[in-house]
Amino acid sequence: MKSHLFKIAVFVFSCFIISCTINQKGGSMITSEPFGTTPDGQSVELYTLKNDNGMQASVMTYGATLVSLTAPDKDGEFIDVLLGYYDLDNFVKKGSYFGTVVGRYGNRIAKGKFSIDGTEYTLAVNNGPNHLHGGLKGFDKKVWDGKIVTTEEGEAVQLHYLSKDGEEGYPGNLDVTVTYSLSNDNSIKIAYHATTDKKTVVNLTNHAYFNLRGSGLILDHEMMINADKFTPVDDTLIPTGELRPVKGTPFDFLTSTAIGSRIDADYEQNQFGGGYDHNFVLNKDGEQPTLAARVYEPKTGRIMEVYTDEPGVQFYTGNFLDGTITGKNGTVYKRRSGFCLETQHYPDSPNQPDFPSVLLEPGQEYNTRTIYKFSAK
Ligand code: GLA
Repeated sequence: MKSHLFKIAVFVFSCFIISCTINQKGGSMITSEPFGTTPDGQSVELYTLKNDNGMQASVMTYGATLVSLTAPDKDGEFIDVLLGYYDLDNFVKKGSYFGTVVGRYGNRIAKGKFSIDGTEYTLAVNNGPNHLHGGLKGFDKKVWDGKIVTTEEGEAVQLHYLSKDGEEGYPGNLDVTVTYSLSNDNSIKIAYHATTDKKTVVNLTNHAYFNLRGSGLILDHEMMINADKFTPVDDTLIPTGELRPVKGTPFDFLTSTAIGSRIDADYEQNQFGGGYDHNFVLNKDGEQPTLAARVYEPKTGRIMEVYTDEPGVQFYTGNFLDGTITGKNGTVYKRRSGFCLETQHYPDSPNQPDFPSVLLEPGQEYNTRTIYKFSAK
């Protein structure tokens, strides 16, 4: 009996040591809980990741959505820096892509049409004359399968979705996983992976809206975007094909500049989209994730850095928020009360042969990574 008890004690102790080791690597502890049911009866789970510093992120299986993300200010105080809601019903009813994954194609495809090998595909036109964010029921409105996995970086939340051939008009069964991990350097990493059984187009991103002060307008946040060029758009927000130098334009964020300082400047591109709603062509150095943007909020000292291996980032200043949505803690989401940095391939790439390709073929793997890292000064 005694030796039996001893064996149990050794087993429990070993489990404790193993779990400590895992946590040291990744720094995050993950728990899960039910988060409600969609109108069509699907159960949704919420996963909460916590690191050793007290930072927390939560991710739900509806839309593979980042529901909340806390970050410290210069006094070490954590607040949630994401716009959105704390309940499933509001995500389902009010939308706006708060924290969701968007796909199969993030951002716009002109007139909802593209061709592969001479076959034309027709997608829903759901944004003026264009297709936006995967269509009427894109990846942001699907319930994904969720599980906790152990990766090289420790524990992570992995979400899986199989987008069937023909869904929303796209060709090929697309098998997608999105993995969220939180580490002890206060960074949340999102890894996207996909394979297909027919040639298709893919552009996955996360549509989180940030406000590093938690509420209010984001106009005094100071933004640096590591991009010498951007892709100007027409009045329906489709890129013209030009890669325009930012130098001498309100799009020059090479040195840190308040978002609001030139947002209403008399420059044609500012009128299209009502502020910033443009893709920046990132200065790249190799294939590893590199610094795409750094944002500093002067009152709280919060800093967010974005690293990615993607060639572009959509800088969107919440111009379409119009005060009709009430979100977390009763906050009314006014125009420009949040900003997005959606790492991506450029909008309308399927119709722009000179842009980096978004084609995925059978046998190939789609792999991209984006890291949002928080600090304060
Ligand atoms: C993207 C688009 C914007 C807008 C938002 C969602 O960032 O570029 O024009 O559609 O998504 O509201």
